[in-house]
Amino acid sequence: MNTTDNPPKRNILITGATGQVGRAVIRTLKDDDSIKLIAAGRSEEKAAKLGVAWRKLDYDEASTLSPALQDIDSVFMATDYTVGMLRQSKAFINAAKRAGVHHIVHLGAPGDDDTHVDHWGWHQFVERYIEWSGFSFTHLRPEIFMQNLLGYGGAKPIEEGVIHHYVGDAKICWVDIDDIAAVAAECLREPVKHSSQTYRLGYDAKTYHEVATILSSVTQQPFRYEPRPAAEFLEKVLAAGADYAYMQCAHNNYQNYATGKTPGADYTFDNFETITGHPPTRWEAFAIRHKEAFQY
Ligand SMILES: NC(=O)c1ccc[n+]([C@@H]2O[C@H](COP(=O)([O-])OP(=O)(O)OC[C@H]3O[C@@H](n4cnc5c(N)ncnc54)[C@H](OP(=O)(O)O)[C@@H]3O)[C@@H](O)[C@H]2O)c1
Repeated sequence: MNTTDNPPKRNILITGATGQVGRAVIRTLKDDDSIKLIAAGRSEEKAAKLGVAWRKLDYDEASTLSPALQDIDSVFMATDYTVGMLRQSKAFINAAKRAGVHHIVHLGAPGDDDTHVDHWGWHQFVERYIEWSGFSFTHLRPEIFMQNLLGYGGAKPIEEGVIHHYVGDAKICWVDIDDIAAVAAECLREPVKHSSQTYRLGYDAKTYHEVATILSSVTQQPFRYEPRPAAEFLEKVLAAGADYAYMQCAHNNYQNYATGKTPGADYTFDNFETITGHPPTRWEAFAIRHKEAFQY
């Protein structure tokens, strides 16, 4: 029996909790006493640093799904950079339905509903499956993460001030992962308010040349962008063990960006302040916040 007037805490499960976005969602919600936050993932050791409760969840191990989802009200659902996301998402959504989960906040990818970018479309299949399953839902469609330039999976995207990327001179739309987390946190806190919404999340359109100029000005060190062929990207990521199917899609998309065949690559959106109550991060503020990491 609840002996106080406080309503019982809602249980919120964060998947991908040891990943970039999941970690940021946990950081954002950790001090909210109105909810019980539970990190879900494969490694208890990795999750220990998050400072919240943990449950074992491996999308590829069916026996872990139901226990992880028991008594959960809302889920932040994030998958990795692999085509396995399709199979994993279906199994997870089915298990969430059986467990009685109410609301799913799904981390997707950019693009309009008619996108021709394959892996963005995969995320939209998952969105449709969440809807078809009858959940209350919020779909997040973030643009390109600013954090990609801080290094990823041990790969250095900037060496001695030279940014290597593969989108030619395209202007593309960017988002700070902390802003994705801020929106996700609001949707998890107030599921009714944000139900049945698809939020495109991207607030600063810049070419890599423009990003290099900002980094030069903030760090007082020279930065420049050297466009490279997309084939080099594919060779590098496959050598590092990345998923072929997903990265082939990313490669094709880079080629399309470079030749101007990705419509809306530079769209920006004006929903952030309404959702969170404060303005989104733009490149200059991001560079200032991460100045030390960019300096060489
Ligand atoms: N990078 C971008 O610019 C960009 C832009 C738009 C959308 N996205 C989307 O963002 C998502 C990736 O987010 P992120 O960067 O936060 O990912 P991330 O840092 O690579 O983290 C992936 C997370 O998934 C977990 N995971 C992997 N396999 C799992 C499994 N079998 N069972 C349970 N958990 C598993 C990982 O856990 P472990 O720690 O155990 O490995 C980790 O917590 C992708 O869906 C991508 O399409 C990315």
